[in-house]
Amino acid sequence: MKIPNNPFIGTHYIGRKEINAAKKVLKSKSLFRYDGPKMLYKTDEFEENMRKYLKVKHVLACINGGSAIKLSFIANGIGPGDEVLMSPFTFIASASSVLACGAVPKFVDIDSTMNIDPDQIEKNIGPNTKAILAIHMQGQPCNMPKIMKIAKKHNLIVVEDTAQAFGSEINGKKAGTFGSCGAFSLQAGKTITCGEGGFLATNDNKVYELAKMYHDNGGYRVGRNYPTWSNGKTIFGENFKITELQSTIANEQLKKIDKILAKQRKNYNAIVNNIDKDFYHIRDGFKGVSSVCSSLAVEFKTAKECSKFIEFMNQNGIGFNYYCTDLISSYDTFTKQQSWDKTNFPYNISKYTKTKCPNAESLIKRVAWFNLSAELKPKHLKYIVKKLKEYQNEF
Ligand SMILES: Cc1ncc(COP(=O)(O)O)c(C=O)c1O
Repeated sequence: MKIPNNPFIGTHYIGRKEINAAKKVLKSKSLFRYDGPKMLYKTDEFEENMRKYLKVKHVLACINGGSAIKLSFIANGIGPGDEVLMSPFTFIASASSVLACGAVPKFVDIDSTMNIDPDQIEKNIGPNTKAILAIHMQGQPCNMPKIMKIAKKHNLIVVEDTAQAFGSEINGKKAGTFGSCGAFSLQAGKTITCGEGGFLATNDNKVYELAKMYHDNGGYRVGRNYPTWSNGKTIFGENFKITELQSTIANEQLKKIDKILAKQRKNYNAIVNNIDKDFYHIRDGFKGVSSVCSSLAVEFKTAKECSKFIEFMNQNGIGFNYYCTDLISSYDTFTKQQSWDKTNFPYNISKYTKTKCPNAESLIKRVAWFNLSAELKPKHLKYIVKKLKEYQNEF
C-alpha cells in the first residue's frame, strides 16, 4: 500500500468556501488591501479574526513568513552589528531573515525536543547578542517559559518563528504569543495556507506601528488613508503588503483551524498510542505542550539503525525520511560567509561566530520523519502501525 505523505495540510482543506471567497474578491476588482472600486476589506477581517484567535493586540498580514520574521526584528530595532541566537535545525528562511536585517545568526545547539536548547542559550550570549529566534520546528513549540526567563535576565528580544507551528500551544497559550513578536507563514505546506503569505502577531503598539510602516514602503498611514512620506515619521521600508485575494483564502482557512488540528492530533495519536514506546523513541516534548502534529519523528540510537528503518518503511510504501541532510550552519552562506553584495553585507558589519552543534549534527542523522498528511485515512494509520510492529519484531 502506498501511504500519502505530502506535507500540504492547509492545502488539503481548500474547497467550496475558499473558491467562493476568492470569486467574490475577484468580482469586486479590489485586490489591493487599502483601496479599490468596491472594497471588501478582507485583509482587515483576516487580521481581526487572527488577533482574536491568538488573543493578541495586533496582527499584521504580509507577503510571507520570511518577511514576517524580518519585520519582527526590524520593528524591534535589531540590525547591523547585532547577533541573533537560533537553532541550525531549520529552513534557511529563518536565518536569511536575520541576515536581511543586517544582523547575523549565532547557531546554538538543540536538545531532545529538537528545538533550541535553553541551557545552551545562556552559554552563547556574547557582547553583540541582542535577540533570540525561537523556532518551533515541525509544529512543536520551544520551551518558551524557560526562554522568556533567560531573555528577561539578559535583556534580549525574543522573536518566535512560528512558520511551522500555527495552532500549537504551551499550557493553553498559543505559540507565537510569548515573545515580542510571533512570525507565521501561510505558505502551501503550513497548517493553514493561501499559497504564499504570512503575518506577525504582537502585543506591543510601537512594534506594530513600525512593522506596519516598514511593510508599507516606510510610509505613515492612518487607518486606510493614503500614506504620507513627509510628516517627519517616514522610515526606509519595503513593500511587504498581502493582497485581498490571499487574505480572503487565509480567512476561510482560519475558520477550519479547529477541525484541521483535531484531525492531525487524532491521526498522530492513532499511531503513537498503538506502538511500543520503549522500542520507538518518539520526539520529546515538555510538559503542557500541544503540538500541531504535522509529522511523526522517531529517534534511533545510531544513524545506521535510522537508515535501516527508513529503508524498511520505504520498501513498504511509507515515506519516512530524514528531515534534511545538512544543518543550515553548514551552508556556504555561513561557512564561507557568502553574500550577494560586493561589500559582503552583512558580514562586513556584523561579526559572525562559528559554533559547534553536536546534538543537532547527530540528531539529523538519527531521526526519521513522516509527514502526517491530511489525506491519511484509518486504513492507512492501521497499516502504518502494522508495519511499525513488523519492523520491531524483525529487528
Ligand atoms: C521554519 C521556517 N521559517 C520560516 C519560513 C519562511 O516562510 P515563507 O516560506 O512563508 O517565507 C519557513 C517556510 O517554509 C519555515 O519552515
